[in-house]
Amino acid sequence: MTEKMTDWKRKDLLGIEELSAEEIELILQTADSFKEISSRPVKKVPTLRGKTIVLFFFEPSTRTRSSFELAAKRLSADTLSITKSSSSIQKGETLKDTIKNIEAMQVDVIILRHSSSGAHHILAPQVTPSIINAGDGCHEHPTQALLDMFTIKEKKGKIKGLKVTILGDIAHSRVARSNIWGLKKMGAEVTICGPKTLLPRDIDKMGVKVTTCLAEALKGADVVNILRIQKERQQVGLFPSLREYASEFGVSREKLDKYAKKDILIMHPGPINRGIEITPDVADGKYSVILDQVTNGIAIRMAVLYLVSQAGISEQQE
Ligand code: CP
Repeated sequence: MTEKMTDWKRKDLLGIEELSAEEIELILQTADSFKEISSRPVKKVPTLRGKTIVLFFFEPSTRTRSSFELAAKRLSADTLSITKSSSSIQKGETLKDTIKNIEAMQVDVIILRHSSSGAHHILAPQVTPSIINAGDGCHEHPTQALLDMFTIKEKKGKIKGLKVTILGDIAHSRVARSNIWGLKKMGAEVTICGPKTLLPRDIDKMGVKVTTCLAEALKGADVVNILRIQKERQQVGLFPSLREYASEFGVSREKLDKYAKKDILIMHPGPINRGIEITPDVADGKYSVILDQVTNGIAIRMAVLYLVSQAGISEQQE
């Protein structure tokens, strides 16, 4: 007999930090049951028929926005997409007023990406619709970490006990933070690696191993999650040049052959800077699961939309 799963009780998904391992497991298992829908000839189920989901993106996005929209549509929800440039934020309206106005249109879920860390945590208790964090500043990107964990579990059969290296610009990465919280809760050993200037001070307090040596970070790792070098930050001199970064920290076939296990899983949340943090032959190589991550993103977002919507229904029934 299967063990009874934890019930999902949260109206919102704001971050991984506040989730328990059981809640993460519930999302991963729910995503597993939704994944098959996307391979059907008719990719649609009526689960969220009648629900209205708003996608509000204040920062650019390819993967997260389109994958949330496809997830909502595959569950038969109605969707509405708003961007910063097309909203009255441009005329000086505050984020809170904008969200309150969207709430007044009786929507059920608001998926929000915003450059301010913590914006979602302030807004969520003040509104009735579920708020889903699609990335807040340098703080959290919970659905990215969930799809990363789903992909690791799918490819390696487990998360517990695996050695996972997160490589690159850790200091500015919401993906790194959400992954560290999630992977630690799920029992992985996490190593972070990058130039000293891109590693947050006191990061070791999150229970991770820290190194500035790529060879050491690759040795024995089951998974390496390679983060984007944010070229825009190059101007502030956090490392000497992109060429130097690529030479010291870029992941190439040669370095993998020299230092890594033969079956190391190569991950990247995207967008990729080919030839900087990862060479094209590694990005497109046998052990790369970068596009599997994108595919799995839809199943994870279907699961999250479903679970927060169910929590809303049980609250109304109580
Ligand atoms: N991984 C990720 O968040 O990609 P986008 O910025 O394209 O959504």
